[in-house]
Amino acid sequence: MSDLEQAKLTLEEKGFLDIETPNINYVEEILRLKKEKNAVLLAHYYQIDEIQEIADFVGDSLALAQQAAKTDADMIIFAGVHFMAETAKILNPTKKVILPDLKAGCSLADSCPPDAFSEFKKQHPDHKVVTYINCSADIKALSDIVCTSSNARKIIDSFPEDQPLIFAPDRNLGAYLNKETGRDMLLWDGACIVHEAFSMEKLIEVVKEHPDAELIAHPESEAHMLKVAKYIGSTSGLLNHVRQSEKKKFIVATEAGILFQMLQENPDKEIIPAPAKEDNTCACSECAFMKMNTLKKLYLCLKYELPQIEVDDALSAEAIKPIERMLELSK
Ligand code: 13P
Ligand code: SF4
Repeated sequence: MSDLEQAKLTLEEKGFLDIETPNINYVEEILRLKKEKNAVLLAHYYQIDEIQEIADFVGDSLALAQQAAKTDADMIIFAGVHFMAETAKILNPTKKVILPDLKAGCSLADSCPPDAFSEFKKQHPDHKVVTYINCSADIKALSDIVCTSSNARKIIDSFPEDQPLIFAPDRNLGAYLNKETGRDMLLWDGACIVHEAFSMEKLIEVVKEHPDAELIAHPESEAHMLKVAKYIGSTSGLLNHVRQSEKKKFIVATEAGILFQMLQENPDKEIIPAPAKEDNTCACSECAFMKMNTLKKLYLCLKYELPQIEVDDALSAEAIKPIERMLELSK
């Protein structure tokens, strides 16, 4: 982004340039600009309700990567976090991929710095590397294959049983997969702050209050949460489970944004977010990175086609290989 573009965006973000358009209807403007620019709006289930409502497609990490791989739109506006938009850019090097806030990162991706990971990989030359999609392009470029929480089991099972594996960056998902597959993958010590924020003490209280509710959890959660969960799955797995289950009440241990879709699909069911350790307004666990995207930022991003995601060509050429292997195995 040039200095002028950055300055303009900063002014708009701070509200100074809004003086020209004080009564702007962000939803209407986003829909208009999207059509005018033939842009597709892809949103993750953890986005704020208002964004999920106007997105062309709402999905989990795998479904979003699959949508990005097949879109014929001229531009992708990604309502998610940086690694998701970066994956979309790697899959679409000639398209403009924009993210409403470049600071929308991910604690899990940040927990795996490329230099340290490259050293770790060198120490285990006989190991193949499976990485969770929640990582940077540099880490993807060091990987044999990428996975998401929806397809991790299938991806791991695609390797011969005697093939030693490294799994990065999520230690919780990795430990869960070791248990599920009976493997002994070497785990990188990374984690998602959102899925490690649940409080067991508070959860016990919620369970006492709602003894008829079923606890379901995302596999990024810690082992003690997964041990007591009756169902473990990705965000789309959790949504499918609640839709298909005959149960009427669920305690859901994942980011609270998922409640929007869950309640829309199941208006007759009671959905209770699992409580977080810290007292906060939602009394649940929210991803501060995902929540950086707002309707206003989305509008500005579409209007100025900024900030854009850029990935170096040589890096992109390496990082696309493990992503394409994953997409091939996930058909
Ligand atoms: P899924 O979308 O694969 O369920 O992953 C959840 C997540 O933490 C995304 O950042
Ligand atoms: Fe990263 Fe966790 Fe936020 Fe997902 S929920 S973007 S893994 S910090």
